[in-house]
Amino acid sequence: MAEGLEGVVAAHTILSDVDGVGGHLVIRGYELDQLAERIRFAEAAHLLLDGFFEDLPDIGELDVQLGQARVEAFEYANVVNAIPPGLNAVEAVRALIARIPDGDNLKIALLLLAGVSVFTAAVARARRGMPLISPDPSLDHATDILRMMKGVAPTPEEAAALDTYLVTVCDHGLNASTFAARVTASTLAGLNSAVLTGISTLKGPLHGGAPGPVIEMLDEIGDASNARTWIEQAIDRGDRLMGFGHRIYRVRDPRADALKKAVRILGPHSGRLAHAEAVEAAALEILRERKPDRSLQTNVEFYTALLLEALGFDPDEFTCVFAMGRSLGWIAHAREQVANGRLIRPASIYIGPVPQIAA
Ligand code: CMC
Repeated sequence: MAEGLEGVVAAHTILSDVDGVGGHLVIRGYELDQLAERIRFAEAAHLLLDGFFEDLPDIGELDVQLGQARVEAFEYANVVNAIPPGLNAVEAVRALIARIPDGDNLKIALLLLAGVSVFTAAVARARRGMPLISPDPSLDHATDILRMMKGVAPTPEEAAALDTYLVTVCDHGLNASTFAARVTASTLAGLNSAVLTGISTLKGPLHGGAPGPVIEMLDEIGDASNARTWIEQAIDRGDRLMGFGHRIYRVRDPRADALKKAVRILGPHSGRLAHAEAVEAAALEILRERKPDRSLQTNVEFYTALLLEALGFDPDEFTCVFAMGRSLGWIAHAREQVANGRLIRPASIYIGPVPQIAA
């Protein structure tokens, strides 16, 4: 049995391909670097959903419908201040998503796609004690989300950087949350159930919950001259360095470079890029020394942390922003699973006690 299902093929997909040896990510026939920085989120949505909804309109109309879906989703956000304060940001966003009815059509798909973004902005505002800002459907998706979050129009560079991020993370083969979403979809539970499954799986620190701890690591290291000592002590304790290592990639995660470029787009607002680069270099050196048998490289989460911090999100909100992009992949995979797949129901080997014979 392959522990963690490593290497097990569980689906055929036309959506994306992760080449962990060559360091390539192909999304529907395009290399990531042909897409990141070149297309907007609505265009990525059209690319991934094409063929999965009979009524999918052209990109221009899809953009319009996504704007309308933001307005509709905002109605579901009106209870944001009643969310128990003990929930963290991703748990609060998940609670709002759960208010949307299940269904398996384009309207629900767009409501969910828009919803994850609108709810993230609403949760961010509510947690800062600020009034919610309603969507402007005439704006581009990334621009509107940042405006709803910050309360002022973002610069074109900020909107472009968020678009790059959303496109970069929109799909990634059979990662844990996408696999989980496909399992749920295979029971015909509906798109919302698949998205809720996806976000619940994404939030773990080994998957989409890593970028928040990357910021903690950078904060704790402080000056880059402390990096080596801090990292060595962490490895000695048996800790994992967040933002490094991957199940599939044995070379640098191509998404890390796409996001590093996006951080640079922000120019003087690019935050602590130089500091992070110094920490990254120290981490890679120590991982090579301490874990020579496993090629551990920078993954997507390291530069995600820098980019989202520079865009004004709190570390606690990073996983929600990951879900804004990845919900597109969950929805496309859910539709592909329903169209082509059977109920996913693997087997297990029982290793518990032999049943007792009743006396
Ligand atoms: N720091 C230190 N050691 C590590 C790390 C790390 N980040 N990642 C793996 N290792 C070590 C691990 O301790 C083990 O060493 P040993 O053989 O001496 O016990 C060896 O590498 C193999 O680890 P594994 O657990 O078999 O690897 P995996 O394929 O199950 O884990 C991973 C993949 C992403 C969970 C892991 O690399 C990790 O925990 N990274 C840190 C968390 C992180 O950055 N997560 C975001 C992943 S990228 C977003 C996404 O696509 O989901």
